[in-house]
Amino acid sequence: MKSIEKLENIENKNVILRLDLNVPIKNDKIIDTNRIDKIIPTLNFLVKKKAKVIIISHIGRPHGKIVKELSLKPVSLCIKDKIKRDVILLKENIFNLNKKDIFKNSSDGVVLLENIRFYPEEEANDDKFSEKLASLGDIYVNDAFSCSHRDHASVTKITNHIPSYSGIQINTEVNALKKITTEIKKPVTCIIGGSKISSKINIIKNLIPKFNNIIIVGAMANNIFKYQGLKIGKSIYENNIGRIIQEIFNYAEKYECNIYFPKDVKVGKKLNDKSIEKEFREIEDDDMILDVGSKTLVEIKKIIDNSSTLLWNGPLGYFENSNFSSGSLEVAKYIANRGDKIFSVVGGGDTVSVVNSLNINSKFNFVSTAGGAFLEYIEGKVLPGIKALN
Ligand code: 3PG
Repeated sequence: MKSIEKLENIENKNVILRLDLNVPIKNDKIIDTNRIDKIIPTLNFLVKKKAKVIIISHIGRPHGKIVKELSLKPVSLCIKDKIKRDVILLKENIFNLNKKDIFKNSSDGVVLLENIRFYPEEEANDDKFSEKLASLGDIYVNDAFSCSHRDHASVTKITNHIPSYSGIQINTEVNALKKITTEIKKPVTCIIGGSKISSKINIIKNLIPKFNNIIIVGAMANNIFKYQGLKIGKSIYENNIGRIIQEIFNYAEKYECNIYFPKDVKVGKKLNDKSIEKEFREIEDDDMILDVGSKTLVEIKKIIDNSSTLLWNGPLGYFENSNFSSGSLEVAKYIANRGDKIFSVVGGGDTVSVVNSLNINSKFNFVSTAGGAFLEYIEGKVLPGIKALN
């Protein structure tokens, strides 16, 4: 990848900067700024070189429609605060923008386009759309490792139309993950949780040959429970993935990888409920599984004790409600306290939020901003966004 750090004459050039500013927001407030903090060096680098920066990002999954709650407004204010410069949020339709007008209201030379996923063309990887985006700039920079597994217009197709470079953060992530995947020490365990079941379930199969233990938690585990005939009440799950789960178990046997999933859970009737610990046979039809139970935590800690390398992606429960955060918090603290007995890598927006909330970031060997992209990289896939830069 050609890195922006080698770029010389970019004064007054329009630099299109693809970032992943998909941060958790509640009531217009950013709950965790980690992904923003990580790209500040790239922004400062470009600003110092007097480039004019056009930031592109998505937030959430609006599926091609304008969703007010998924505006990048809070993000623009946060960046403005961090770089001490004006950051103009451009809400105009991208198809009506043109290169010479884009900075007409910005004296500080940093604009942020409104959520790129408000346009159906983004996820459709539409060539005309990517050409339009490219026409706004002179140079394109991808500094969004965490969404480089997405074959989307502003991540991949755009590189066909404009000289393209990698940013400082994407270089850091790729170099660190390269090192981890080549120097991995066994026994190696992966804790995989969160709620993006459809994105992650297929990845598990491909991880099996590389891992000694895979611990499936969070909403990911609900499908395993269902497959095992256990009660899950009204917990979220994905339809029609029984075959994939069967394959996961077959593969695990073939490659001698242990698959663990919770043996007890914490439930509530709704997301903002208090928690009750239950065995599966006690689960009622209107219960939602929202965290792991205490027996499960004891088991997970034992597996951690016996691991030399640990990769963790996805919280163990609905940690946004403190009544269901103990699984994620306890595991985070336990890994952190293992010190140099374990090589630990954590990835994913929510998982990193958990670690940040405890202020134990520095106790992990590497903290990746990426969730799905991190897993796909570990899986051995060539990420489309990285391939496009090559
Ligand atoms: C992430 O949060 O992992 C990235 O922003 C990608 O988001 P997506 O899974 O909605 O594509």
